[in-house]
Amino acid sequence: MGRILVVDDEKSIRNTFQVFLSNEGHEVLIAENVENAIKVAKENDLDLVITDIIMPRNTGIDLMEKLKKIYPSLPIIIMTGEPTVETAALSVKNKAYDYITKPVDKNTLIITANNAVKYKQLNDAKKDLEMKNKEYQNNLEKLVEVRTESLQKAMNATVITMSTIIELRDPYTAGHERRVGNLAVEIAKKMKLSKKQLDCIYVTGYLHDIGKISVPAEILSKPGKLTNIEFEFIKTHVTYGYDVLKKVELPWPVANVVYQHHERMDGSGYPRGLKGDEIMIEAKIMAVADVVEAMTSHRPYRPSLGLDIALNEIETNKGKLYDEEVANATIELFKKDKYEIIDETKNIVFSV
Ligand SMILES: [Fe+2]
Ligand SMILES: [Fe+2]
Repeated sequence: MGRILVVDDEKSIRNTFQVFLSNEGHEVLIAENVENAIKVAKENDLDLVITDIIMPRNTGIDLMEKLKKIYPSLPIIIMTGEPTVETAALSVKNKAYDYITKPVDKNTLIITANNAVKYKQLNDAKKDLEMKNKEYQNNLEKLVEVRTESLQKAMNATVITMSTIIELRDPYTAGHERRVGNLAVEIAKKMKLSKKQLDCIYVTGYLHDIGKISVPAEILSKPGKLTNIEFEFIKTHVTYGYDVLKKVELPWPVANVVYQHHERMDGSGYPRGLKGDEIMIEAKIMAVADVVEAMTSHRPYRPSLGLDIALNEIETNKGKLYDEEVANATIELFKKDKYEIIDETKNIVFSV
């Protein structure tokens, strides 16, 4: 049961209450004035205080005010031999648990005290549960944070590893994947695409030519012009890339973007000759980033064509081969924002 403090300046009442409540299984402490009552309250974890109102010096109402400040959830039962409207009002104002009048009937005292103790203990148990729940939630959030971070790292590592493998297969275009990825993300940012789309574009950029693994190395590294048959071979990299990536469960449509990155607005691209809105925005961005990167990069068989020629290609063919909005964003990115193609491998924090 509970620990109860009885405060009364009359010794007979203190003793009687102590006997009644002890018989109910409570631990009963006593105090004859407000000062002692506060001392006992500070030294003991109380479940209930039953206090007389009229006592020498400080009253039971003073005691209640002081205790409520320190222990707001401690129930206090007020009792008095001279019940008045004022004392009742003060008791209510100070949030007394109950108000009983003297002479106190034994049964009333026991029922009221038992209920108050139960109320306090249930309240404590509820608070304890709330605290544990909060602690659990915090731990869970921390755990999710740690797991998410390690997943992020694993995802980045996988993307970068795959990108490096593609590079090993086609050393003449080393860094092409990541430069396209970095540029495509910047174009997408300019077009205010969502974070999820940016993540998709980053991953797709770094992997977009993954299908080149299936193209014979001598064709990939052949300097100079390709024959028609060789070019047909090169074209298969989008379908192979799609076939490889569609088997991987990713939170973004990476396989489809890879599949479409050589499509052109007028239907002259490959492999399916998609037109306009049939092409995903991510693929339209990838197409422009791919062309700009390729034209501005050195190749073993030719020097860089330069940024001006690359941007001129985009400007001339915007609306025809390249999406107009993507083309404008790209031109603005280079001309106004002075963007320079970045060769470094970037780690990104994916949205989850
Ligand atoms: Fe490609
Ligand atoms: Fe490419």
